[in-house]
Formats: sequence, structure tokens, C-alpha cells
Amino acid sequence: MTAKILDGKALGQKLRAGFRQRAEALAAQGTRPGLSVILVGDDAASRVYVRNKVNACAQTCFHSEQHIYPADVEVSAVLAKIAELNADPKIHGILVQLPLPRRFDAGTVLEAIAPAKDVDGFRAENVGALIQGQPCFIPCTPYGVMKFFEDAGIPLKGQEAVVVGRSNIVGKPMAMLLMHAGATVTVCHSQTRDLQAHCRRADILIAAVGKTGLITGAMIKPGAAVIDVGINRLADGKLCGDVDFASAREVAAFITPVPGGVGPMTITMLLANTLESAERAASA
Ligand code: GUN
Repeated sequence: MTAKILDGKALGQKLRAGFRQRAEALAAQGTRPGLSVILVGDDAASRVYVRNKVNACAQTCFHSEQHIYPADVEVSAVLAKIAELNADPKIHGILVQLPLPRRFDAGTVLEAIAPAKDVDGFRAENVGALIQGQPCFIPCTPYGVMKFFEDAGIPLKGQEAVVVGRSNIVGKPMAMLLMHAGATVTVCHSQTRDLQAHCRRADILIAAVGKTGLITGAMIKPGAAVIDVGINRLADGKLCGDVDFASAREVAAFITPVPGGVGPMTITMLLANTLESAERAASA
């Protein structure tokens, strides 16, 4: 079997075309969706991600701004900017790019964002609402992964899902969304005893660790849907995921590539959350 490629660029463009129409309709009524991105430090990958987010806003008729600070900025200056953005009616979403420099307590910074503008869905209220299955901002990467399943008609009810990685950004919310969708979910991590045995049982396999080649074809159940959330840079500068694509695609039924899989969908769902926030603000 050679897996069908789940193309995040194509699905992202399809969804963004609809968002653009909604953004234009909202702008005609006087509200242009607005996203503000805060970046602290000079992490090269973060700079690229932030630039991609800002460019996506421009293509989708959103207002966007970026606030870039040196790594040694006072924490209070960042908190003051968040307070200013919380009160700014042009801004419907605030995103603080992670990771922050070690000096920062990420929890304190994220909790400073107004809940109504927490388009990353990282605040405790949003996490709690997600666990309870209540409407909330769904963290963008797992939200994008769910869109792949929806678009490709991949069933989740009663399926065995294995999430490798337990981060707050991906692993934990991903497990919750799959559970709500009716999958039986296992979360594997660095202390898991027999990763291969768990992965081999998975109808749905999500790799979200950040380790090149962690998942090989031998670890995949024939016919599985394999979603690669990893973005790793090789010595030659090329990007690759956590899944060994060449061997995995011979076993899986569906697979996401890196780049061009989950990455574009994360940005697409950031636009979705910002648009939803703007629509809520306009109808308030
Ligand atoms: N760093 C890596 N992924 C993300 C994300 O989805 N949101 C933010 N804010 N930072 C990230």
C-alpha cells in the first residue's frame, strides 16, 4: 500500500478562501479581524513561524501586527504590551510565540492574555473548557489535525488512537479532541515502555515529539492514518518530521508530509480562531 498524502497546503488554502470571504463580509460591516503576534528573542524557527502567520493574515484580509523584543527585554514590558493589546478593539487575537526565553514564566505571560483573545487556546480557562467539551478556542495544531480527519472522511469513533508526545500545545489537547470524537486514546511519552507495541495498535497515529525518524514503517499498523506534527531541521537545513516518511508511506493508508502537512494547517486554524473571535466581538 502507498499512503494517500494529506496535503495541508491544499486543505489550508481551501479553508482560507472561505475565511477570506467571511473576513471581507465582516470588514464591510466595520470589523476587520486583527491578530497581534509577540515574539521574544531571536530563535530562527520562531521568526519563520511568526512571519508565516503574519503573511497568512495579509492573504486572508486580516489586520496583523508583530511586536518583536530582544531576549533580554523586561518581562514587565511584555506584560504591558499584552495589557495594551487586550484593550485594543482592532485586535481580536493575541499570540505569544513559544518557547519564551527561560527567564520568562510562560504561564504568567499566557494568563495575561484576555480569555476572549486567547486564539492559541493556551489559557487555563480554555484548557478547562476543552476538557469539558465546551465551546472554546481549540489549540491550533490539534484543531488542524482534526480538520484532516474531517476532510478525508477518516472515521474516529471506536478507533484506536495513539498520540506520541504529551505537550500542552499538542499532545494533551490532541488526546482530548480524539477522545471527544469517540476514539480510544493512548498517550505515549519518553517514559513509555514499549512504544512500538502501542504504535502498532493504532488506527490513528499522531507523532508530536520533535525527534527525527522516531516512527518507522515497522511501527505502523497497515492501513493506519499517520499524522506527523514534528518539525525538525536536519544538518543540511532540510525539514523533516518525527516519522520516517519513506518507510511509513508504504504501510499507512494516509500520511501527512513535512513540510506541507500539519504546519500550514496550524496557521489556518489560527486564522479560524481569530476570525471567530472577531465575529463574536462584532456581534457583542
Ligand atoms: N510554538 C510552537 N507552536 C506554537 C503554537 O501553536 N503557538 C504558539 N504561541 N507558539 C508555538
